[in-house]
Amino acid sequence: MKNNKLAVIGVGHVGSYVLADAMKTDLFSEIVVIDKDKDVAFGEALDQAHATALTYMANTNVYAGDYQDVKDADIIIIAAGPSVIITDKNAKPDRALLAEVNADVIREVMEGITTYTKDAIIILITNPLDTIVYIAENEFGYPKGRLFGTGTMLDSARLRHAVASNYNIDPKSVTGYMMGEHGMTAFPVFSRLNVQGFGEKELDIHFQGKEALNREVFGQKVVDTAYDVITSKGWTNAAIAQAAITLAKAVLLDERSVYPVCTTLNGQYGYEGDVAFSMPCIIGKNGVEQQLEIELDEEEMKLLHKSAQYIQETMRIAGTGKDKRVKSS
Ligand SMILES: NC(=O)c1ccc[n+]([C@@H]2O[C@H](COP(=O)([O-])OP(=O)(O)OC[C@H]3O[C@@H](n4cnc5c(N)ncnc54)[C@H](O)[C@@H]3O)[C@@H](O)[C@H]2O)c1
Repeated sequence: MKNNKLAVIGVGHVGSYVLADAMKTDLFSEIVVIDKDKDVAFGEALDQAHATALTYMANTNVYAGDYQDVKDADIIIIAAGPSVIITDKNAKPDRALLAEVNADVIREVMEGITTYTKDAIIILITNPLDTIVYIAENEFGYPKGRLFGTGTMLDSARLRHAVASNYNIDPKSVTGYMMGEHGMTAFPVFSRLNVQGFGEKELDIHFQGKEALNREVFGQKVVDTAYDVITSKGWTNAAIAQAAITLAKAVLLDERSVYPVCTTLNGQYGYEGDVAFSMPCIIGKNGVEQQLEIELDEEEMKLLHKSAQYIQETMRIAGTGKDKRVKSS
């Protein structure tokens, strides 16, 4: 019988939450924990191992390891590298500020992984997410589709939560997503937003909203609410961990679910291998099975190009781009 094996690389605030969630899904029989700080990896794995003696935990074999342990991993989730730090409660530091430091981190991590495997499905969380995905996917010749980023999964969950709160309904009843960068230039695809068939123009008529559904206002709410979490507790981890595990499940169970994730564009919206950002994709056993180039309205297309340009600027800071691409082997 096949064992499902997960590797979690980087177990700070985010990675440790991913690990904790993964331990509770019953999806994995083996989990290896890797971190630059070996004591942290050891402690996180041991703490989780102790928990397996208790009622609601499966007997997952969880241990601290090194890159050789990823050679038979089915899924690798990467949350290595620092997050934005808030020193002033009113500041909104851009995730792009992490470009230089986390470009080095991801190059080190991908060097370690690709020494042992190019078969595992890699799910990236590290910021600035779109630039990090571009580096990991293109500088190491990782097979197309087998590596992608959580992208705007988190931003989209926040959008659905904001819309649902406005109308006092279940966020799972809201179908809608953010596209573009995971960050300040992410934008809501309002032309496609709907609640069981009720679209953008019908929601305010049929549901009693606290405020009118306005594209700009709700788009900004989604971007700002990340800082509501960071300025209050210091970091975000619960929702992003759930997003990563949702994607891992879609891969392991070959669900062919449609989620907004980040991968390099190959012709979509006129971008030919020179940027990575989020659009709806089919997620199955091979990772990104298909990128779905949904038609956007004029206003959304402008926002998409603005977001792509912003990511390309961050890519330049991180020293990556089309000229750095390595063919996948
Ligand atoms: N994509 C998203 O939606 C999203 C959401 C939240 C956080 N993030 C990002 O996730 C990352 C992690 O955030 P965090 O709050 O857990 O940070 P953190 O500082 O708490 O943890 C980072 C961990 O990475 C480890 N690490 C650093 N360099 C490493 C290396 N070269 N190899 C292996 N491990 C290494 C550190 O030892 C630490 O344990 C950040 O980049 C953050 O911005 C992304």
